Amino acid sequence: ALPRDIFAPRQNSAGVPFGERKALASFLAERDAAGPLDVTARCLWSGAKADAPETVRSAVDGTAIGSVHALGAEAASALVGEASRHVRKAEVVPAATRAGWLRKAADLMEARQGLLMNLLAREAGKTVDDGIAEIREAVDFLRFYAAEAERLFGAPTFLPGPTGEENVLQYRSRGVAVCISPWNFPLAIFTGQVAAALAAGNVVIAKPAEQTPLIAAIAVGLLHEAGFPAASLYLAPGDGKAGAALVAHQATAAAAFTGSTETAFAINRALAARNAPIAPLIAETGGINAMIVDATALPEQVADDVVMSAFRSTGQRCSALRLLFVQEEVADAMVEMIAGAAAELTVGDPRDIATDMGPVIDAAQHAMLSEHLDRMGREQRIRFAGTLPAGLPPEGHWIAPHIVELDRAEALPGEIFGPILHVVRWKAGGLDAVCDAIERTGYGLTLGIHSRIDDVARRVRERLTVGNVYINRNMIGAIVGSQPFGGSGLSGTGPKAGGPNYVLRFAREQVVSVNT
Ligand code: NAD
Ligand code: ALA
Repeated sequence: ALPRDIFAPRQNSAGVPFGERKALASFLAERDAAGPLDVTARCLWSGAKADAPETVRSAVDGTAIGSVHALGAEAASALVGEASRHVRKAEVVPAATRAGWLRKAADLMEARQGLLMNLLAREAGKTVDDGIAEIREAVDFLRFYAAEAERLFGAPTFLPGPTGEENVLQYRSRGVAVCISPWNFPLAIFTGQVAAALAAGNVVIAKPAEQTPLIAAIAVGLLHEAGFPAASLYLAPGDGKAGAALVAHQATAAAAFTGSTETAFAINRALAARNAPIAPLIAETGGINAMIVDATALPEQVADDVVMSAFRSTGQRCSALRLLFVQEEVADAMVEMIAGAAAELTVGDPRDIATDMGPVIDAAQHAMLSEHLDRMGREQRIRFAGTLPAGLPPEGHWIAPHIVELDRAEALPGEIFGPILHVVRWKAGGLDAVCDAIERTGYGLTLGIHSRIDDVARRVRERLTVGNVYINRNMIGAIVGSQPFGGSGLSGTGPKAGGPNYVLRFAREQVVSVNT
């Protein structure tokens, strides 16, 4: 059975129930009134030769919110060497102690939610709702993997054998585990990877995305404060070159990566090219996620779920809906209803409780999305173009929600990571062709199905190799322990984050047979 204590009710140190939107929004305002943020992200190993500090600026308005001492490739490589000296010390810490530290970190994270919400908004452009959900997910990961440490490492498993012999299976740490994370869940995914690797008793090197080093530094600080020694968890701020150096090092014994499929390929190649023992890779990557809607679906529910799946978090979720397949008979009415709902979304400063969509992460992402919209305008049909309100800070990168109708699914050139929904029509009897089109993308992360015919949902989910299938609901926001998350094909290697097999990837198995 999966541990249930992650669902325990909780409140922050001020007695405010966790997840109270209004209370958290007022924390944001209070924190702003207290003066500018000034967080430093650096590797605490004294031997780390970091680059000169660089200012980190808010994704919302460009104000300085802290500084980062990034590691170059050489320094990152040296860090793996240093970490490998502490493997034995980390491994002998009892599982119960590791679990206790993870739970303490969860408590600390809840107590510091004001600062975390503020950083999520400023550094990553997260709205109040997204910030709440993200902190909750990070806390859930900490508690879930604490319980997993106890379940898997607490006591050995006795195996059957002949009389006079005792056989036990036990899990041991792998050694140095490198965790590399993306900017779009800078707290939840960062914390989840790290917590799982620590639960298994590894020495962990955590490299956050270059866009979001500050919130990662706070998370590592909380884990240290909770009890993990500095020599069991290192923050390694830096860009892709630092990440590449971490995985190329011979002492790296396991790697967890969440990000783009191209980067996962590069990491896989780098691990394989080493003259070193084979190290397992957990890769959680992108998706061209589809939702299939047939003529029996409930229109209002579809509209609600599509808007949530495509535009929440400004579409910057790996799970987000990209390709909506709507049955011809209801397509026009459905698109009109979805466009009507999308028109109600407010784009703006994510710290404002009324904002539904914050900025996209940076100028490069904005340029990619703008180019895509230009191309779609030339080659396909834009069915809805949202408008941006006046007065948005020009330093932020803003994209309004859009709906594009494609003449065929193949007109979508790849994963478009932003608030742009693509719609394709299908005709009655064409369900297999829709599944073929989804299969041809090569991805397999999330899939939505809206139909009141059970057999339609059954046929589709049995046919497609997708990691997370959502029926008659939205297709984002997987809950730790309830909806273990991750895909297959171009979307990842599995196992699923927040599920019963994840921590095992960071462990090796040992069997001891004793002649009694
Ligand atoms: P990215 O691949 O550009 O970067 C992710 C991380 O990899 C960053 O920390 C980056 O510095 C590092 N990196 C880059 N090149 C590297 C290399 N050669 N070796 C080692 N590390 C390297 O991805 P991104 O733009 O930050 O994130 C967006 C992508 O992440 C999207 O494709 C999205 O779908 C995917 N994503 C997937 C999941 C999931 O759970 N499946 C969750 C969130 C995001
Ligand atoms: N786990 C995140 C979601 O389900 C990415 O939306």
